[in-house]
Amino acid sequence: METTDKTKIETGNGSNEKSDYKSNGFEPKIVGFLCNWCAYSGADLAGVSRIKSSPNIRVIRTMCSGRVDPSFVMKAFELGADGVLIAGCHFGDCHYIEGNFKTMRRVEMLKMILRQFGIDERRLRLEWISASEAEKYAQVSIEFTGEIKKLGPLKLVKN
Ligand code: FES
Repeated sequence: METTDKTKIETGNGSNEKSDYKSNGFEPKIVGFLCNWCAYSGADLAGVSRIKSSPNIRVIRTMCSGRVDPSFVMKAFELGADGVLIAGCHFGDCHYIEGNFKTMRRVEMLKMILRQFGIDERRLRLEWISASEAEKYAQVSIEFTGEIKKLGPLKLVKN
């Protein structure tokens, strides 16, 4: 993996990224869209319980995972995110009845679009995490960060 300054420019990540990443010190920027009623509370519980989770996730709280418009995900990648996590309530627990079913279908569609843009679909992850699943949130955040670290910085070539 190329990790020179030239790479940084090619990725489009240079605008607001700390300029000190190297192949072994790459710290990915991950946007986490977390549903207010479950995953966000799970993440909050992880923090309150002092369960170690990834500091690389920049959390955006949404009222439902179904509120995450596909354009939000594409915009996050465009603005320099190396990965995007969407986390919502388990099936049957969505406060808006079927918001998470909508999310599931959207994520499948988004993965297809990402492939067409030449972006590895593993950069987008969907998880169901309840408010009591602090351990799960922590595990997912650490695991996903590790996966994005392996993938390296997102290489978007802007025209
Ligand atoms: S309210 Fe949590 S996924 Fe819909």
